[in-house]
This record gives sequence, structure tokens and C-alpha cells, in this order.
Amino acid sequence: MRIERDTERGRAVTLSVNGQSLAAFEGEMLATAMLHHAAAFRRDTRGLERGLFCNMGSCSECMVTLLPSGRRARACLTPVSDGMEVRTDG
Ligand code: FES
Repeated sequence: MRIERDTERGRAVTLSVNGQSLAAFEGEMLATAMLHHAAAFRRDTRGLERGLFCNMGSCSECMVTLLPSGRRARACLTPVSDGMEVRTDG
């Protein structure tokens, strides 16, 4: 859910999470965009979906892989950018 009233948005951007195209706005964190679009975060060893826990960079539950570099990052601390590609299964 995004606040829709009495707020200003950054420029609209498009990113890809596990091949799914997501619309977001500059200034948003990747985790915000993923939550808004109900995109899956990583899975545990039993294949069950995990989600955000702390939303402040402490727990690593939101760890994703940024492509093409393969760099691991916390979605809750990573700002979106246009054309960004992300995987959650890495
Ligand atoms: S949700 Fe805990 S580090 Fe991102």
C-alpha cells in the first residue's frame, strides 16, 4: 500500500523482480515496490516464502541479488532505479 494523498512522487520507473515487471517511483526502496506488487521475497529451505521482518537492515530476511553484478543487497535498504533487475532465488 502506498500513501496516495498529500504526497509527492519521484519519477516513475520500471524494474524487474524474478522476470516480473514492477512499476515504482524513484525514492522508494526495493522492498516497498515488492510489497506493493506482492512480489515474492526469498524462500526458506522448505520452499516456503519469507518476507520482511525488521525493514531496517538488521535481519537480512529481505536479501536479494542485483543483476547483472550478482551483488547481494537488502531490499529494505536498496533504492529502486529504472531498469533494475533483481532475483530473489540467489
Ligand atoms: S527486512 Fe530486515 S534487513 Fe531488510
